[in-house]
Amino acid sequence: MGYRVIAGPFDLGAWSAAHLERVEQALSQWVTTDMPTGVDHGAPAALVAAMRYAVLDGGKRLRPLLVMAAFEATQAQPSEDAPTAEAALRAACAVELIHAYSLVHDDMPCMDNDVLRRGKPTVHVQFGEASALLAGDALQALAFELLTPESDVISERSQARLCRQLARAAGSAGMAGGQAIDLASVGHALSEHQLREMHRLKTGALLQASVMMGATCGQPTPAALDALAVYGAAVGLAFQVVDDILDVTADSATLGKTAGKDADQDKPTYVSILGLERSAAYAQELLAQALGALRSSGLSQTQALAGLAKMVVNRSS
Ligand code: IPE
Ligand code: IPE
Ligand code: MG
Ligand code: MG
Ligand code: MG
Repeated sequence: MGYRVIAGPFDLGAWSAAHLERVEQALSQWVTTDMPTGVDHGAPAALVAAMRYAVLDGGKRLRPLLVMAAFEATQAQPSEDAPTAEAALRAACAVELIHAYSLVHDDMPCMDNDVLRRGKPTVHVQFGEASALLAGDALQALAFELLTPESDVISERSQARLCRQLARAAGSAGMAGGQAIDLASVGHALSEHQLREMHRLKTGALLQASVMMGATCGQPTPAALDALAVYGAAVGLAFQVVDDILDVTADSATLGKTAGKDADQDKPTYVSILGLERSAAYAQELLAQALGALRSSGLSQTQALAGLAKMVVNRSS
Protein backbone atom coordinates (compact mmCIF):
# COMPACT_ATOMS: atom_id res chain seq x y z
CA MET A 1 0.00 0.00 0.00
CA GLY A 2 3.06 2.29 -0.02
CA TYR A 3 3.61 5.14 -2.40
CA ARG A 4 6.66 6.88 -3.70
CA VAL A 5 7.60 10.30 -2.34
CA ILE A 6 8.61 12.19 -5.49
CA ALA A 7 11.87 14.12 -5.22
CA GLY A 8 12.70 17.36 -7.07
CA PRO A 9 10.35 20.15 -8.23
CA PHE A 10 6.71 19.32 -7.64
CA ASP A 11 4.91 17.83 -10.64
CA LEU A 12 1.14 17.59 -10.09
CA GLY A 13 0.69 15.29 -13.10
CA ALA A 14 3.19 12.74 -11.80
CA TRP A 15 1.89 13.08 -8.24
CA SER A 16 -1.71 12.54 -9.39
CA ALA A 17 -0.84 9.62 -11.65
CA ALA A 18 0.88 7.76 -8.80
CA HIS A 19 -2.03 8.27 -6.44
CA LEU A 20 -4.71 7.59 -9.04
CA GLU A 21 -3.17 4.23 -9.76
CA ARG A 22 -3.48 3.22 -6.10
CA VAL A 23 -7.03 4.58 -5.86
CA GLU A 24 -8.21 2.78 -9.02
CA GLN A 25 -6.71 -0.47 -7.84
CA ALA A 26 -8.22 -0.15 -4.38
CA LEU A 27 -11.68 0.74 -5.70
CA SER A 28 -11.64 -2.21 -8.05
CA GLN A 29 -10.61 -4.49 -5.19
CA TRP A 30 -13.18 -3.15 -2.71
CA VAL A 31 -16.25 -2.74 -4.94
CA THR A 32 -16.71 -6.43 -5.42
CA THR A 33 -18.89 -9.42 -4.62
CA ASP A 34 -18.31 -10.64 -1.10
CA MET A 35 -21.29 -12.69 -0.05
CA PRO A 36 -21.88 -15.51 2.39
CA THR A 37 -21.85 -18.93 0.78
CA GLY A 38 -25.26 -20.49 0.27
CA VAL A 39 -26.82 -17.23 -0.91
CA ASP A 40 -28.20 -17.20 -4.46
CA HIS A 41 -25.60 -14.87 -5.98
CA GLY A 42 -27.55 -13.98 -9.14
CA ALA A 43 -29.33 -10.83 -8.03
CA PRO A 44 -26.63 -9.43 -5.71
CA ALA A 45 -24.02 -10.07 -8.41
CA ALA A 46 -26.06 -7.94 -10.82
CA LEU A 47 -26.20 -5.24 -8.17
CA VAL A 48 -22.42 -5.35 -7.78
CA ALA A 49 -22.11 -5.07 -11.56
CA ALA A 50 -24.13 -1.83 -11.41
CA MET A 51 -21.97 -0.56 -8.53
CA ARG A 52 -18.76 -1.28 -10.43
CA TYR A 53 -20.18 0.38 -13.54
CA ALA A 54 -20.93 3.49 -11.47
CA VAL A 55 -17.54 3.67 -9.80
CA LEU A 56 -14.85 2.28 -12.12
CA ASP A 57 -13.44 3.55 -15.43
CA GLY A 58 -14.19 7.21 -15.20
CA GLY A 59 -14.24 10.34 -13.14
CA LYS A 60 -11.52 12.79 -12.30
CA ARG A 61 -11.16 11.37 -8.76
CA LEU A 62 -10.70 14.87 -7.40
CA ARG A 63 -12.05 13.95 -3.97
CA PRO A 64 -9.64 11.04 -3.39
CA LEU A 65 -6.77 13.25 -4.54
CA LEU A 66 -7.78 15.91 -2.02
CA VAL A 67 -7.82 13.28 0.75
CA MET A 68 -4.32 12.14 -0.23
CA ALA A 69 -2.97 15.67 -0.57
CA ALA A 70 -4.33 16.74 2.83
CA PHE A 71 -2.99 13.56 4.41
CA GLU A 72 0.48 14.13 3.00
CA ALA A 73 0.46 17.81 4.00
CA THR A 74 -0.34 16.88 7.59
CA GLN A 75 1.87 13.81 8.01
CA ALA A 76 4.29 14.32 10.87
CA GLN A 77 7.05 12.51 8.99
CA PRO A 78 6.33 12.03 5.29
CA SER A 79 7.27 8.51 4.31
CA GLU A 80 6.42 5.96 1.67
CA ASP A 81 5.05 3.39 4.05
CA ALA A 82 3.53 5.32 6.91
CA PRO A 83 1.15 3.07 8.83
CA THR A 84 -1.59 5.65 8.30
CA ALA A 85 -1.28 5.46 4.49
CA GLU A 86 -3.91 2.72 4.31
CA ALA A 87 -6.25 4.79 6.44
CA ALA A 88 -5.89 7.64 3.93
CA LEU A 89 -6.45 5.28 1.01
CA ARG A 90 -9.62 3.93 2.63
CA ALA A 91 -10.83 7.47 3.33
CA ALA A 92 -10.07 8.47 -0.28
CA CYS A 93 -12.10 5.55 -1.64
CA ALA A 94 -14.93 6.06 0.84
CA VAL A 95 -15.42 9.65 -0.28
CA GLU A 96 -15.36 8.59 -3.94
CA LEU A 97 -18.03 5.95 -3.24
CA ILE A 98 -20.32 8.57 -1.68
CA HIS A 99 -19.66 10.84 -4.65
CA ALA A 100 -20.38 8.05 -7.16
CA TYR A 101 -23.62 7.20 -5.34
CA SER A 102 -24.63 10.88 -5.42
CA LEU A 103 -24.08 10.97 -9.18
CA VAL A 104 -26.15 7.80 -9.77
CA HIS A 105 -29.08 9.28 -7.86
CA ASP A 106 -28.56 12.81 -9.28
CA ASP A 107 -28.97 11.40 -12.80
CA MET A 108 -32.19 9.49 -12.11
CA PRO A 109 -35.44 10.60 -13.74
CA CYS A 110 -36.81 11.85 -10.41
CA MET A 111 -33.82 14.22 -10.11
CA ASP A 112 -31.90 15.61 -13.14
CA ASN A 113 -33.01 12.90 -15.58
CA ASP A 114 -29.67 12.56 -17.35
CA VAL A 115 -28.67 9.85 -19.81
CA LEU A 116 -24.90 10.45 -20.01
CA ARG A 117 -22.31 10.30 -17.21
CA ARG A 118 -18.55 9.89 -17.40
CA GLY A 119 -18.93 9.32 -21.13
CA LYS A 120 -21.28 6.34 -20.68
CA PRO A 121 -25.04 5.81 -20.39
CA THR A 122 -26.15 6.59 -16.84
CA VAL A 123 -26.65 3.70 -14.42
CA HIS A 124 -30.45 3.77 -14.59
CA VAL A 125 -30.34 3.78 -18.40
CA GLN A 126 -27.99 0.81 -18.39
CA PHE A 127 -29.45 -1.23 -15.49
CA GLY A 128 -32.94 0.17 -14.78
CA GLU A 129 -34.16 2.57 -12.11
CA ALA A 130 -34.54 0.11 -9.24
CA SER A 131 -30.99 -1.16 -9.73
CA ALA A 132 -29.66 2.40 -9.87
CA LEU A 133 -31.41 3.22 -6.62
CA LEU A 134 -30.01 0.12 -4.94
CA ALA A 135 -26.53 0.60 -6.37
CA GLY A 136 -26.48 4.09 -4.84
CA ASP A 137 -27.70 2.73 -1.50
CA ALA A 138 -25.11 -0.05 -1.49
CA LEU A 139 -22.25 2.29 -2.46
CA GLN A 140 -23.15 4.52 0.45
CA ALA A 141 -23.10 1.58 2.87
CA LEU A 142 -19.81 0.32 1.44
CA ALA A 143 -18.20 3.72 2.05
CA PHE A 144 -18.74 3.35 5.79
CA GLU A 145 -17.67 -0.29 5.75
CA LEU A 146 -14.34 0.80 4.25
CA LEU A 147 -13.82 3.25 7.10
CA THR A 148 -14.38 0.59 9.77
CA PRO A 149 -12.05 -2.34 8.99
CA GLU A 150 -11.81 -5.15 11.50
CA SER A 151 -8.02 -4.92 11.48
CA ASP A 152 -6.37 -2.18 13.55
CA VAL A 153 -5.12 -0.31 10.49
CA ILE A 154 -7.26 2.69 11.58
CA SER A 155 -7.52 3.49 15.30
CA GLU A 156 -11.07 3.29 16.65
CA ARG A 157 -10.93 6.98 17.44
CA SER A 158 -10.01 7.84 13.85
CA GLN A 159 -12.63 5.44 12.47
CA ALA A 160 -15.32 7.23 14.46
CA ARG A 161 -14.08 10.64 13.40
CA LEU A 162 -13.87 9.68 9.71
CA CYS A 163 -17.39 8.22 9.79
CA ARG A 164 -18.73 11.32 11.49
CA GLN A 165 -17.05 13.65 9.00
CA LEU A 166 -18.31 11.68 6.00
CA ALA A 167 -21.83 11.16 7.37
CA ARG A 168 -22.20 14.86 8.14
CA ALA A 169 -21.01 15.87 4.66
CA ALA A 170 -23.28 13.37 2.89
CA GLY A 171 -26.49 13.88 4.86
CA SER A 172 -29.17 16.52 5.27
CA ALA A 173 -26.63 19.09 6.51
CA GLY A 174 -24.48 18.37 3.44
CA MET A 175 -24.88 16.80 0.00
CA ALA A 176 -28.40 15.36 0.39
CA GLY A 177 -29.62 18.60 1.95
CA GLY A 178 -28.10 20.59 -0.90
CA GLN A 179 -29.71 18.31 -3.46
CA ALA A 180 -33.07 18.89 -1.75
CA ILE A 181 -32.57 22.65 -2.06
CA ASP A 182 -31.51 22.19 -5.70
CA LEU A 183 -34.72 20.33 -6.56
CA ALA A 184 -36.91 22.77 -4.64
CA SER A 185 -35.25 25.71 -6.41
CA VAL A 186 -36.09 24.79 -9.99
CA GLY A 187 -37.71 27.78 -11.64
CA HIS A 188 -37.03 30.07 -8.65
CA ALA A 189 -34.81 33.14 -8.64
CA LEU A 190 -32.45 32.56 -5.71
CA SER A 191 -30.45 35.36 -4.14
CA GLU A 192 -26.68 35.05 -4.39
CA HIS A 193 -26.62 34.15 -0.70
CA GLN A 194 -29.18 31.35 -1.17
CA LEU A 195 -27.30 30.01 -4.17
CA ARG A 196 -24.03 29.98 -2.24
CA GLU A 197 -25.70 28.03 0.58
CA MET A 198 -27.09 25.48 -1.88
CA HIS A 199 -23.71 24.96 -3.55
CA ARG A 200 -21.90 24.87 -0.23
CA LEU A 201 -24.09 21.96 0.83
CA LYS A 202 -24.62 19.97 -2.34
CA THR A 203 -20.99 19.99 -3.50
CA GLY A 204 -18.83 21.97 -1.11
CA ALA A 205 -19.49 19.82 1.95
CA LEU A 206 -18.11 16.61 0.45
CA LEU A 207 -15.07 18.33 -1.03
CA GLN A 208 -14.30 20.04 2.27
CA ALA A 209 -14.81 16.71 4.05
CA SER A 210 -12.27 15.12 1.69
CA VAL A 211 -9.67 17.61 2.90
CA MET A 212 -10.60 17.24 6.55
CA MET A 213 -10.67 13.43 6.40
CA GLY A 214 -7.20 13.45 4.86
CA ALA A 215 -6.09 15.58 7.80
CA THR A 216 -7.74 13.13 10.23
CA CYS A 217 -5.33 10.49 8.91
CA GLY A 218 -2.38 12.85 9.54
CA GLN A 219 -1.28 14.83 12.59
CA PRO A 220 -2.34 18.44 11.94
CA THR A 221 -1.98 21.28 14.43
CA PRO A 222 -5.22 23.07 15.37
CA ALA A 223 -4.11 26.06 13.28
CA ALA A 224 -3.47 23.84 10.25
CA LEU A 225 -6.92 22.28 10.66
CA ASP A 226 -8.56 25.70 10.68
CA ALA A 227 -6.65 26.72 7.55
CA LEU A 228 -7.54 23.47 5.79
CA ALA A 229 -11.22 24.02 6.61
CA VAL A 230 -11.03 27.42 4.90
CA TYR A 231 -9.13 25.91 1.95
CA GLY A 232 -11.70 23.09 1.62
CA ALA A 233 -14.68 25.43 1.76
CA ALA A 234 -13.21 27.70 -0.91
CA VAL A 235 -12.23 24.83 -3.23
CA GLY A 236 -15.59 23.14 -2.66
CA LEU A 237 -17.59 26.19 -3.62
CA ALA A 238 -15.26 27.02 -6.53
CA PHE A 239 -15.79 23.51 -7.84
CA GLN A 240 -19.54 23.97 -8.23
CA VAL A 241 -19.16 27.51 -9.62
CA VAL A 242 -16.92 26.05 -12.34
CA ASP A 243 -19.34 23.12 -12.86
CA ASP A 244 -22.07 25.71 -13.54
CA ILE A 245 -19.78 27.57 -15.96
CA LEU A 246 -18.76 24.42 -17.84
CA ASP A 247 -22.41 23.40 -18.22
CA VAL A 248 -22.72 26.50 -20.43
CA THR A 249 -19.30 26.74 -22.10
CA ALA A 250 -18.22 23.12 -22.71
CA ASP A 251 -19.69 20.43 -24.93
CA SER A 252 -21.08 17.05 -23.89
CA ALA A 253 -18.18 15.09 -25.43
CA THR A 254 -15.64 17.05 -23.37
CA LEU A 255 -17.69 16.86 -20.18
CA GLY A 256 -18.77 13.23 -20.56
CA LYS A 257 -22.21 14.42 -19.42
CA THR A 258 -24.99 16.38 -21.10
CA ALA A 259 -24.00 20.05 -21.49
CA GLY A 260 -26.52 22.87 -21.31
CA LYS A 261 -28.95 21.06 -19.05
CA ASP A 262 -29.04 23.60 -16.21
CA ALA A 263 -30.67 26.21 -18.45
CA ASP A 264 -32.90 23.55 -20.02
CA GLN A 265 -34.13 22.52 -16.59
CA ASP A 266 -34.34 26.10 -15.32
CA LYS A 267 -31.88 25.50 -12.48
CA PRO A 268 -30.55 28.51 -10.61
CA THR A 269 -26.77 28.53 -11.13
CA TYR A 270 -23.90 30.98 -10.75
CA VAL A 271 -24.12 31.66 -14.47
CA SER A 272 -27.87 32.34 -14.37
CA ILE A 273 -27.47 34.70 -11.42
CA LEU A 274 -24.08 36.41 -11.97
CA GLY A 275 -23.42 35.77 -15.67
CA LEU A 276 -20.36 34.03 -17.09
CA GLU A 277 -17.78 36.75 -16.55
CA ARG A 278 -18.59 37.46 -12.91
CA SER A 279 -18.84 33.74 -12.19
CA ALA A 280 -15.34 33.18 -13.59
CA ALA A 281 -14.02 36.11 -11.54
CA TYR A 282 -15.66 34.67 -8.43
CA ALA A 283 -14.01 31.29 -9.04
CA GLN A 284 -10.63 33.06 -9.22
CA GLU A 285 -11.42 34.92 -6.01
CA LEU A 286 -12.16 31.60 -4.29
CA LEU A 287 -8.90 30.19 -5.64
CA ALA A 288 -7.02 33.12 -4.10
CA GLN A 289 -8.80 32.43 -0.78
CA ALA A 290 -7.81 28.76 -0.93
CA LEU A 291 -4.17 29.52 -1.69
CA GLY A 292 -4.09 32.21 1.01
CA ALA A 293 -5.36 29.68 3.55
CA LEU A 294 -2.58 27.27 2.60
CA ARG A 295 0.03 30.00 3.05
CA SER A 296 -1.28 30.76 6.54
CA SER A 297 -1.56 27.07 7.52
CA GLY A 298 1.97 26.66 8.83
CA LEU A 299 2.19 23.50 6.68
CA SER A 300 5.15 23.03 4.37
CA GLN A 301 4.05 20.20 2.03
CA THR A 302 1.12 21.99 0.38
CA GLN A 303 2.12 21.82 -3.29
CA ALA A 304 -0.41 19.12 -4.15
CA LEU A 305 -3.22 20.96 -2.36
CA ALA A 306 -2.29 24.16 -4.20
CA GLY A 307 -2.05 22.37 -7.53
CA LEU A 308 -5.45 20.70 -7.05
CA ALA A 309 -7.10 24.04 -6.20
CA LYS A 310 -5.73 25.54 -9.42
CA MET A 311 -6.87 22.49 -11.35
CA VAL A 312 -10.41 22.82 -9.96
CA VAL A 313 -10.71 26.41 -11.09
CA ASN A 314 -8.87 26.19 -14.41
CA ARG A 315 -10.18 22.80 -15.57
CA SER A 316 -12.00 22.29 -18.87
CA SER A 317 -14.01 19.19 -17.91
C1 IPE B 1 -19.76 16.27 -10.80
O1 IPE B 1 -18.61 16.03 -10.08
C2 IPE B 1 -20.88 16.53 -9.88
C3 IPE B 1 -20.73 17.70 -9.06
C4 IPE B 1 -20.61 17.64 -7.78
C5 IPE B 1 -20.74 19.02 -9.68
P1 IPE B 1 -17.21 15.73 -10.82
O2 IPE B 1 -17.01 16.74 -11.91
O3 IPE B 1 -16.15 15.60 -9.80
O4 IPE B 1 -17.51 14.33 -11.48
P2 IPE B 1 -16.50 13.15 -11.87
O5 IPE B 1 -16.26 12.40 -10.61
O6 IPE B 1 -15.24 13.75 -12.43
O7 IPE B 1 -17.26 12.34 -12.87
C1 IPE C 1 -24.75 17.56 -8.56
O1 IPE C 1 -24.79 18.80 -9.12
C2 IPE C 1 -24.17 17.59 -7.25
C3 IPE C 1 -24.28 16.25 -6.62
C4 IPE C 1 -24.39 16.16 -5.36
C5 IPE C 1 -24.23 15.02 -7.40
P1 IPE C 1 -25.12 18.79 -10.68
O2 IPE C 1 -26.47 18.20 -10.92
O3 IPE C 1 -24.83 20.14 -11.21
O4 IPE C 1 -24.01 17.77 -11.20
P2 IPE C 1 -23.84 17.34 -12.71
O5 IPE C 1 -23.66 18.60 -13.50
O6 IPE C 1 -25.08 16.57 -13.08
O7 IPE C 1 -22.60 16.50 -12.70
MG1 MG D 1 -28.23 17.95 -9.89
MG1 MG E 1 -26.98 16.73 -12.42
MG1 MG F 1 -23.82 20.56 -13.03
